Amino acid sequence: MLVLAPMEGIADHSMRDLLTQHGAFDLCISEFVRISNTLLPERVFKRYLPELENNCQTPSGCPVHIQLLGSDPLLMAENAQRVAEMGAPGIDLNFGCPAKMVNRHGGGALLLKEPEQVARIVSAVRTAVPDSIPISAKMRLGYEDTHLALDNSRAISESGAARLTIHARTKQQGYRPPAHWEWIALIREVVTIPLVANGEIWNFQDYLNCQRISGCEDVMLGRGALRNPLLSQQIHQQQPDLDNSTTWRAITPLLIYFYHLTQANYPELYVCQRIKQWLGFLSPGYLEAQHLFSIIKPLNKAPLILKELERHCASFPNNQIR
Ligand SMILES: Cc1cc2nc3c(=O)[nH]c(=O)nc-3n(C[C@H](O)[C@H](O)[C@H](O)COP(=O)(O)O)c2cc1C
Repeated sequence: MLVLAPMEGIADHSMRDLLTQHGAFDLCISEFVRISNTLLPERVFKRYLPELENNCQTPSGCPVHIQLLGSDPLLMAENAQRVAEMGAPGIDLNFGCPAKMVNRHGGGALLLKEPEQVARIVSAVRTAVPDSIPISAKMRLGYEDTHLALDNSRAISESGAARLTIHARTKQQGYRPPAHWEWIALIREVVTIPLVANGEIWNFQDYLNCQRISGCEDVMLGRGALRNPLLSQQIHQQQPDLDNSTTWRAITPLLIYFYHLTQANYPELYVCQRIKQWLGFLSPGYLEAQHLFSIIKPLNKAPLILKELERHCASFPNNQIR
């Protein structure tokens, strides 16, 4: 199974639409919905998960599960129940967010200091939601260090979760490479539920290495899918890596596609920000992205940005514009 990672502020329904369009992903997890002190109204869930109107699938038919983040078992259960009633086909619980704001309120990675509380949350949500709706969880290896990694994994597995994704780093390690895939293999020895390996998969070779070291068939792609939107297809078709210029040729028309998707959904200024944001994720991989970013950076009018994207796209003669 290939899963598209939850990525707050970037993997929204437009990006999910774009990245799943070739059918290579089997599942998406939504950006986290923060549950702090109330039962959220339906409109909030619809905002995070517009796919609720489409049988909870992206336009190409990839299922989307919703991710909840919070530390109060009862509130998490109530909110899970509500979104399940609205049609969510699966609920994922976040035990990994490193954001200061989230941790200050006792959520995300901070919960990894207390396996008992992790268990209480998973169990409360499992009990509140019909058995037909799978509950999954996503965790890091720990907060400061890995000493509770096995306890947390066991807590999640034994409290009724159907699947566990492991971002193989602690909160302290942030996003610094490497991801410690070997830890996932250790966790496999103490839990019975399927595991999904996550972290630092940027190309096909990383995917193979991650599978070999973690012992996991299933993987989740985050930033690697943003930097190379062809990566999921390559993995699906077991194709070795393409050279950078071939990949960039395929990406440029997608930038225009993404422009139109966001333009249909958001105000103009936000459209500009989203294009720049994606180029920011692309820039470490492609000189062309850096160049294009420097051109559009000062622009705050969406049509001007579109013009530059089209100009850039036209300079790559073999592009197939969708
Ligand atoms: C911008 C950004 C936002 C993220 N938001 C979430 C989130 O909402 N929920 C979550 O569980 N993980 C979130 N993550 C973590 C990713 O899902 C993933 O675990 C992490 O990026 C490691 O995978 P990668 O190396 O393939 O990117 C986020 C990561 C990034 C870069």
